[in-house]
Amino acid sequence: MKNILVTGGAGFIGSNYINHILTERDDYNIINLDNLTYAGNLENLKPSENKKNYTFIKGNISNSELVNYIFNKYKIKYVINFAAESHVDRSILGSEIFYRTNVIGTNVLLEISRRNEIEKFVQISTDEVYGSLGREGLFTENTPISPNSPYSSSKAAADMMVLAFYHTYKMPVVITRCSNNYGPLQFPEKLIPLMIINALNNKRLPVYGDGMFVRDWIYVTDHNKAIDLVLDKGKIGEVYNIGASNEMPNIKIIKLILEYLKKSEDLIQYVKDRPGHDRRYAIDSSKIQDELAWKPCYSFETAIIETIEWYIQNKNWWGRIISGEYQNYYKLQYKI
Ligand code: NAD
Ligand code: TYD
Repeated sequence: MKNILVTGGAGFIGSNYINHILTERDDYNIINLDNLTYAGNLENLKPSENKKNYTFIKGNISNSELVNYIFNKYKIKYVINFAAESHVDRSILGSEIFYRTNVIGTNVLLEISRRNEIEKFVQISTDEVYGSLGREGLFTENTPISPNSPYSSSKAAADMMVLAFYHTYKMPVVITRCSNNYGPLQFPEKLIPLMIINALNNKRLPVYGDGMFVRDWIYVTDHNKAIDLVLDKGKIGEVYNIGASNEMPNIKIIKLILEYLKKSEDLIQYVKDRPGHDRRYAIDSSKIQDELAWKPCYSFETAIIETIEWYIQNKNWWGRIISGEYQNYYKLQYKI
């Protein structure tokens, strides 16, 4: 059995990872440590909650006493650190919690992992640490780190700490830097779920600036398959970019969503731009493709339609987020 500490497993990518991997691997014992911030939703883990090789623990990655206890009790040998404050707009409103979780929290995990001589520490980072691109070019693993938002600067700081643990202690760390994810279970503050849900509710779709900001979209399962490969075969001390070569201006995705839902483009509302808004992200993922034989399996054209359909079919899921009811699931399940 591989005893794996997955942090932030009640969020969008982490819950998709756990649900996916527990259907594929019965040699994984997953301990999910998540403190259920606004972004954590235990309902996401319904498919996994009764599995013998899955345990949920509510708690903060910055709590070293708790993290120590978990390492000892569950004999943790692998860590996948998804836990983070992840929304750029929130980081602009207030950056402190971003540093506490993304930097200090990662540092706590690294220190305790080092003392326990773990086999591998996978840090889930982001392409946003590279900053913004002009019209041409792609981010490679050698692109200098140049983050622009409080969110991306906190992720970059964590990356630097992770690499310092490799250089100083030869700790077996690997970093993944992925582009923008989409798919089921994404919290409706991010572009794609927000636009789908607003359109379904006939509410305005707020488009920042001129709508021509470019993101490179990848389906969440493709990202998670790459993470699992990195956990298994990623070379220690290395960084792997992950992306599906699918650049798109925001307005194109928004129009596609409206067209599929047969809603009028009059719902589009151009609003004041996000301060410091990065113009373009685009990933060169040839390293992970060449070294680990990973490649994306989902085409944007079909996976975006499946994603829109998922939000249509799961109105109760996002309805409970909008009403705040989703936060009661933990209390109900654990009878608190
Ligand atoms: P999310 O915001 O949906 O989920 C984050 C999870 O972490 C939540 O369940 C939350 O409760 C938990 N968490 C927050 N602070 C915590 C703390 N102090 N202790 C324990 N748990 C805590 O985020 P996501 O979109 O699933 O992203 C997961 C990771 O992937 C993040 O590290 C993010 O930087 C990275 N990433 C995200 C994207 C994307 O497009 N969403 C792209 C590349 C990288
Ligand atoms: P977001 O989903 O917040 O991801 P990130 O900023 O981490 O890339 O935003 C994706 C893009 O969509 C980004 O260019 C900002 C833009 N955007 C809007 O135009 N309107 C919105 O309401 C949101 C949330 C994002």
